[in-house]
Amino acid sequence: MKVVAFMGSPKKEGNTATLLNQFLNGVKESGENVDVKNIYLKENKISPCMACNYCKREGKCIQNDDMQNLYEVFKEADILVFATPIYWWSMSAQLKTFIDRTYALSEEDRKGKKAYLIMTYGGEAPNLGPELTKKTFEEIFDYVGIEYLGSYGVCTDDYMPVKENTKALEEIYTIGKNIIK
Ligand SMILES: Cc1cc2nc3c(=O)[nH]c(=O)nc-3n(C[C@H](O)[C@H](O)[C@H](O)COP(=O)(O)O)c2cc1C
Repeated sequence: MKVVAFMGSPKKEGNTATLLNQFLNGVKESGENVDVKNIYLKENKISPCMACNYCKREGKCIQNDDMQNLYEVFKEADILVFATPIYWWSMSAQLKTFIDRTYALSEEDRKGKKAYLIMTYGGEAPNLGPELTKKTFEEIFDYVGIEYLGSYGVCTDDYMPVKENTKALEEIYTIGKNIIK
């Protein structure tokens, strides 16, 4: 069982990274035979999709950047985890650029995959940002035939960064621990 996380925050030790790492700790300690990869998208060179449709004609993306490797990482995964801070009611630019480039993948490449979404955001409820982002991912997963396993989001306003949010850290750990059962 392979679990691959795509970490969409530019901050390697920020809220989103902390929440995702705790989720992955749970996955690793699930007692299952699991291989976990965590891809920090910012460290990868991923150019925006050019909508040239070369991929639809030739079966592969024409852009020779780090996505060529990430396509293979994506294909090998059984469970995909997408982690993002909410930026302007949506996902981060790093994650959106990555998602756009998965346009080059085929139905076969995504077959049998499951996905989980992790979000952090500054605004307390009611906050449409995480709701819209969750809906966006639900629509994408439904459209491309990936099974949606659920999502977890946490508010990180100034007085409660994730690393101090014991409740969130416990909850996300438990979710990670049970995700492949
Ligand atoms: C450019 C930018 C836009 C943001 N937009 C929103 C937003 O629309 N809604 C919200 O609740 N928080 C917003 N935030 C707050 C972040 O989502 C929040 O601080 C998040 O936990 C940051 O995660 P990180 O520590 O991984 O960077 C924004 C932050 C930045 C830098």
